[in-house]
Amino acid sequence: MSVGLDDLDALTAPEGRGVLDALAGAGVTPASELRIAEGLRRDHPASLVTAALAQHELRVRARAKFTRADRMFFTRDGLEQATAERVARHRAARFADAARVADLCCGIGGDLVALAAASDVHAVDRDPVHLRMARLNAEAYGVEHAVGTERGDARDADLTGLAAVFVDPARRAGGARKRPGDSEPPLSWCAALADRVPAVAVKASPAVPREAVPPGWEAEFVADGRELKEATLWSPAFATAPSRATLLPAGDVLVPAPGESVEVRAPGAYLLDPNPAVTRAGLVADLARLVGAWQIDPSIAFLSADAPVRTPFARTLRVLDSAPWRQQDLRARLHALDVGSVDVRRRGLAGDVDALRRGLRLTGSRRATLVMTRVADRPWALVCADA
Ligand SMILES: C[S@@+](CC[C@H](N)C(=O)[O-])C[C@H]1O[C@@H](n2cnc3c(N)ncnc32)[C@H](O)[C@@H]1O
Repeated sequence: MSVGLDDLDALTAPEGRGVLDALAGAGVTPASELRIAEGLRRDHPASLVTAALAQHELRVRARAKFTRADRMFFTRDGLEQATAERVARHRAARFADAARVADLCCGIGGDLVALAAASDVHAVDRDPVHLRMARLNAEAYGVEHAVGTERGDARDADLTGLAAVFVDPARRAGGARKRPGDSEPPLSWCAALADRVPAVAVKASPAVPREAVPPGWEAEFVADGRELKEATLWSPAFATAPSRATLLPAGDVLVPAPGESVEVRAPGAYLLDPNPAVTRAGLVADLARLVGAWQIDPSIAFLSADAPVRTPFARTLRVLDSAPWRQQDLRARLHALDVGSVDVRRRGLAGDVDALRRGLRLTGSRRATLVMTRVADRPWALVCADA
């Protein structure tokens, strides 16, 4: 069910807020939903109860992104595309010195609430429901005094006098065939904003092609734990490095550190699996220099070291066995190590992992990571344990 302005009017009126509060207090589960809805329909219009149930479901889902989800308003798309609070706060920190900024394509306001904690924000969206939700969500975070909203096309927004602009264009529908750089407005339009305002940041898909990053801009890749969340492209006024990997929640940052080329040789006692933000930022060699590791192949992102490496930028595994890939030997190799189950980690080697796993028929007692990769361009298998 999509949310219209009428629904939003009803949900934000005292009766609607009462129904939403009742749902929050009732602890709705799939088993109890029907009974609770029937009870509410005795005292409230059916359409309001239906809208409230849908909104409640979105709020529950939104708890994964927002600490104040239970007081916020969402559409399904708006929630899906909204920046999670932790990521938005991290990004907004770089805007903190700008007194007045614009949030173009503000959606339901995930970034807006973080930006408005430090700056006055002019928020623009062409979707009236999202814009209204952005305002309501600013209220949920107590920052509405710093927010002005404008309904319209971002292309028509008046940017005069603004110190900085943030733009989070909508992903284009188009399923698997869509190109990662595709958005509305297009990335090229977003980048050209830097001709009109001093500093610009554009949220992009983490799959953004490198050639889509304009010269002089910084591409920051942000992961929360080992989950790659998004990229931000920072215009030259913001940029401090060509690329950056940021790991939340701690905020660890890796930037290029040019130096000697990294040695390439066969795996040693430890294997390092870089965080996806490091890989996407093209910083695998920089990480190798930082921790004194080497590459196992010039085009593969695994690194190796003789001693265990403690770094937030990679998972370190202890190598139990390392040999060229021969599928017919794998079962015996794993059996000899008493391995009963494997997590498969694959880089640079194709294959049907499920069929492989089934074919192994493992019976041992240990859990291990089976790494399928390439060493000096030869297919290779490593059996590893957590370090
Ligand atoms: C990715 S969402 C924004 C998410 C937001 N940063 C957040 O964290 O909640 C993109 C938004 O862009 C809006 N949009 C798309 N094209 C637009 C345009 N040309 N002008 C204004 N808004 C636009 C959509 O309505 C949608 O709300």
